[in-house]
Amino acid sequence: MRVDLSTAVGALTLANPVMAASGTFGYGLDLLDLCPPECLGAVVTKGLSPAPRAGNPTPRIVETAAGMINAIGLQNIGVEAFCQEAAGELARRGATVIVNVFGERPEQYRAVIERCERAEGIAGYELNVSCPNVDHGGMEFGHDPHQLEALTALCRAATSKSLWVKLSPNAPDLVGTAHAAVAGGADALTLINTLRAMAIDPYRRRPVLATAFGGLSGPAIKPIALRMLYEVHCALPTVPLVGIGGIETGSDVVEFLLAGASAVQVGTAIFRHPAAPLRILSELEDFCVAQKVGELRALIGGLRWP
Ligand SMILES: Cc1cc2nc3c(=O)[nH]c(=O)nc-3n(C[C@H](O)[C@H](O)[C@H](O)COP(=O)(O)O)c2cc1C
Repeated sequence: MRVDLSTAVGALTLANPVMAASGTFGYGLDLLDLCPPECLGAVVTKGLSPAPRAGNPTPRIVETAAGMINAIGLQNIGVEAFCQEAAGELARRGATVIVNVFGERPEQYRAVIERCERAEGIAGYELNVSCPNVDHGGMEFGHDPHQLEALTALCRAATSKSLWVKLSPNAPDLVGTAHAAVAGGADALTLINTLRAMAIDPYRRRPVLATAFGGLSGPAIKPIALRMLYEVHCALPTVPLVGIGGIETGSDVVEFLLAGASAVQVGTAIFRHPAAPLRILSELEDFCVAQKVGELRALIGGLRWP
């Protein structure tokens, strides 16, 4: 039995629903032998800012019982280097590329998009308004619906390509921020980013991370991500959603699709094994064959409840 794994996130059609998540797959070209970017539904780049950023001091990653806490602080090579060094090669390979965008001020988000509009092969943008590990930008925009709507509208005016907004699970009013992003012109919403967390070294009696706090990811957050995605799906049933948070297996993907996701991203699982997205994709296909699901799209929003 052949399974049609294609899906659409708004106007963007993807060959399959499994993407690599921002910050866990570099700029798409680091793992060519193990996970070629053109085999994935899309690759989402590490968050890019107008100028390179060094990120936070180390230690900035710690493993936890069911995931990890990171406080990378959006270290990146800057949009110019990405456009010159990676975008062309990704386009030649036929990869679908979503640029994850970060700025400390709204104009910086817009500047990243404007630079990428002049590069080849970029399918769309994902606004990171939900990073818990930086002092300025990120969560500031993601938590305030008014600021978020204005930021999204500013970016919307800079591109006619796909524009996704990545929501913060730390926001006091998740559904309110979802409405604001859509009002600003977002084509789709990605959820979730990491949850603010900390780890303590009991012997040194100090936080493990240099910044004390970081963002929790991995299987620990999957039930929370599912619940949040489902809540947003119920509130905005026509808005395309991209699910993310602790996905490790093909059946995890099915859970997110049933809750209303049109596609998913795999993050922390890539740290365990760089080819994890390909294994997850093949497990997803096996699930569809075993369950006699001919078209993946039939699963989207198919939760039988209440
Ligand atoms: C080391 C690391 C770096 C990340 N960097 C970014 C980033 O630059 N931009 C962003 O939007 N999300 C970033 N994230 C968040 C992930 O894209 C994802 O939302 C989160 O890890 C939850 O998915 P997961 O449980 O599959 O890892 C990062 C996550 C990790 C672990």
